[in-house]
Amino acid sequence: MKRTLIKHVLVSDRIGEEVKIAGWVRTRRDSKGGFSFLEINDGSSFSGLQVVVPGELDNYQSDVLRVTIGSAVAVVGELVESPGAGQAVEVHATSVFVYGYADPDEYPLQKKRIGFEKLREIAHLRPRTNTFGAVARVRNALAYATHKFYQERDFLYLHTPMITASDAEGAGEMFQVTTLDMGALPRADGEIDYTQDFFGKPTFLTVSGQLEAETYALALDRVYTFGPTFRAENSNTRRHLAEFWMIEPEMAFADLDDNSDLAEAYIRFLFQYILDNCVEDLAFFNKWVDEGLLERLESIAGSDFERISYTEAVQALQKADVGFEYPVDWGTDLQSEHERYLTEVAYGKPLIVTDYPADIKAFYMRHNDDGKTVAAMDVLVPGVGEIVGGSQREERHDVLLESIRAKGLPEEHYWWYLDLRRFGTAPHAGFGLGFGRVVQFATGMHNIRDAIPFPRTPNSAEF
Ligand code: 4AD
Ligand code: MG
Repeated sequence: MKRTLIKHVLVSDRIGEEVKIAGWVRTRRDSKGGFSFLEINDGSSFSGLQVVVPGELDNYQSDVLRVTIGSAVAVVGELVESPGAGQAVEVHATSVFVYGYADPDEYPLQKKRIGFEKLREIAHLRPRTNTFGAVARVRNALAYATHKFYQERDFLYLHTPMITASDAEGAGEMFQVTTLDMGALPRADGEIDYTQDFFGKPTFLTVSGQLEAETYALALDRVYTFGPTFRAENSNTRRHLAEFWMIEPEMAFADLDDNSDLAEAYIRFLFQYILDNCVEDLAFFNKWVDEGLLERLESIAGSDFERISYTEAVQALQKADVGFEYPVDWGTDLQSEHERYLTEVAYGKPLIVTDYPADIKAFYMRHNDDGKTVAAMDVLVPGVGEIVGGSQREERHDVLLESIRAKGLPEEHYWWYLDLRRFGTAPHAGFGLGFGRVVQFATGMHNIRDAIPFPRTPNSAEF
């Protein structure tokens, strides 16, 4: 018999018909009358399915009474309307097959709630909890919505390389990729001889697909990447990962305003999409993880973002009657505490902050006429702070070259990037949205490590 996913059984009109389901036992209760209730969850929806197992079943004594929390089972039975509260339908089993028991003395996910930090140590089992099942489903919905949003707007999905020789952010926070023997590095003139390395030169895991995306935007007009990026920054915060997924749209013939419009439309689309499609999961997060979540998602999906310049942001922060840990002066980068004050207190809504000082931003951002600032934009949201960073790109060859030199970057690495400005250059703009931060925001999960299946952070890569 063909198996049906529980989410389909729960909304089916097959009352009175035979169904087959499979999944993992979440609870078992035995009735005095000599039968058992199993709650089975297969991850297809937040809700599981209640199964009533009659004591007359052949293997009731031998198998069903041994079934424990975490065991994997398949059930065939009749779908009936449930008399009990909490579920509309249930299955009256005619057969229960046990694939695998889970020893209750060893299986860690018993009825007692386990803290999120502890669950990170058993990241291979945490998807079987309510919370991490829901995070996985919301993350999936956000990924689907991302493709939907860009595809519907004529953006082409582009696969940029993960191994690269150039530092896209120029910040020097890259993981090196090598096949050289660490115990016996080849040397020439006292230096490591990279001609013997796999690619004949030093290579790294990319921090961003932007530079490569620009090459395709200047040929195909509109592209977006959606892939993993890597940063070897030693940031032990609740919003940093060493490996995180980023979406990077890039548009030709576009300026900073077009870029802000796109970012705002995209973020609002994402949240509206999950409000419409992840009702049960979001209700769970709103009840158990973050009480204001639904209201916040609705307000962001439904209202315009505020747009201010960096200079205005600094003024607002200097006026603020708050003891910040880091002082704010024009020219310093905004810290997480500043970002959060601006979006949570000063404006009380998502903010797009533009035109940052050139000195604190990446080399590729377009220089404004004031000689001090660049056409940068960051999107800040309550609770998380920065979720998007982007800019209009410097399309003028000489200005870009000057910027690369001024930042002390090796210009020979960027010859192809400079070439784009020699052959048919055009104004263009794009941004990167940190997918983990969006999942964090969308679920209300406090720590980004709980917004990705297997977090990579300093001293932690077990799974
Ligand atoms: O602001 P960032 O560094 O911008 C770029 O990488 C540009 N190349 C993007 C572009 O213009 N195409 O990173 C973009 C976003 C941040 O706003 C943040 O949401 C996220 O990526 N991010 C991180 N998320 C998790 N862990 C980290 N270590 C992150 N670093 C950045
Ligand atoms: Mg940034």
